[in-house]
Amino acid sequence: MRAVDTIRAKRDGDALSREAIEAFVTGVTDGSWPDYQASALLMAIVLKGMNPVETAWLTDAMARSGDRVDLSYIPGIKVGKHSTGGVGDKVSIILAPLAAACGVTVPKMSGRGLGHTGGTLDKLESIPGFRVALSLQEYVAQLTEIGCCLIGQTATIAPADKTLYALRDVTGTVESLPLIASSVMSKKLAEGSGALVLDVKCGRGAFMKRPAEARALARSMVSIGTASGVRTECFITRMDVPLGRAVGNALEITECLEVLRGHGPVDLIELVVRLGTRMVRLAEKAPTDEEATAMVRQALSSGAALAKFTAMVVRQGGDPRVVDDPSRLPSAALSHVMTAPRSGVVTAVDALLVGRAAVALGAGRDQKGDAVDLSAGLLLRKKPGEAVTAGEPVMELRYNDPVRLAAALPLVTQAMVIGDRPPADEPLVLGWVHDRGETMFVVSA
Ligand code: URA
Repeated sequence: MRAVDTIRAKRDGDALSREAIEAFVTGVTDGSWPDYQASALLMAIVLKGMNPVETAWLTDAMARSGDRVDLSYIPGIKVGKHSTGGVGDKVSIILAPLAAACGVTVPKMSGRGLGHTGGTLDKLESIPGFRVALSLQEYVAQLTEIGCCLIGQTATIAPADKTLYALRDVTGTVESLPLIASSVMSKKLAEGSGALVLDVKCGRGAFMKRPAEARALARSMVSIGTASGVRTECFITRMDVPLGRAVGNALEITECLEVLRGHGPVDLIELVVRLGTRMVRLAEKAPTDEEATAMVRQALSSGAALAKFTAMVVRQGGDPRVVDDPSRLPSAALSHVMTAPRSGVVTAVDALLVGRAAVALGAGRDQKGDAVDLSAGLLLRKKPGEAVTAGEPVMELRYNDPVRLAAALPLVTQAMVIGDRPPADEPLVLGWVHDRGETMFVVSA
């Protein structure tokens, strides 16, 4: 089937045949579909959508575009984790070693920054020497020995997603249920997990803006996982405000180390503990959620999770001295402190604008293959609900290029709102979707 016919069909709102979808995935994988045709089809999918059957076919074809890792000879249920992408979302970097410290084997193939959201691989690469490109043999050996591994897709794991992900990042084609579901699930099905805990971000800084959209994405991924024999659960979590206080690659690694030492921002810890609890339960390492939560908290406070993280850094070639001395991470030459224009209470910090500001500072990409500035980003000195006095620092921007600062400043100035009354207390977890049903804690809109 000719690429142009598939593009036209989707442009006109037709459902694609399995054959057309397979030809697209094959063409993207072997390079016979050039970037411009792949991008055109991606945009048509964003605009016209895909039905559940097309989405399942696309996921299946992408998962089969490379190898599917067999981890069955490692004892126990292997539990993967993935987020649909947020701002300041560094949860995977903490959670993989934390769950491993609780006895769970965590195979984890991650992505790079996507649109205004950061990527686990870029963050990890801020640790000098850290290798995210392991061979399949190294991945399996590390999982067997340490219990966790954070890597990028090897050349043979869901290579179609690798190409499409990089294209979507720079062509405005991220925000699409079938594209996100197939991207996440193709990697997860190929990486060897027997169960999955997914974090579907919802809100201003997420690709799914409303709970109803996030819920539909969660349902889609649960049904794809379940149909493939992988027990899949999705939390729907709020992403109106950046998670934690650090946004930007090296800055986020420093914050991860704080949490692994038993400190750090409360929202980040809450999410890590919530998702960690379910990973421990799905791995059948604790009989109840309460006991699983106690295990997770103990692994954080005892230093066991930090020790696992250190072992992972060493094993993946990173400099382990950053663990005790984060000043060894790349640091930006320049910083700009933004102060409160008035006294009051912070009522909002818009995650989308903050994410765009981080990209403007150099922490993300404008074009496919751009290098990222690992040291650039920002630190939120104040978050919603916190009181400020006029002139007090509210945000700090770290950068190396003054032109980039000029692009970021209008975004951050608009992002932070100071009012007279604290905002309403909103739950971080909005819903939980799994193969036995679902609970929405916030009414779907
Ligand atoms: N994470 C992925 O792997 N893919 C997406 O499309 C979004 C988040």
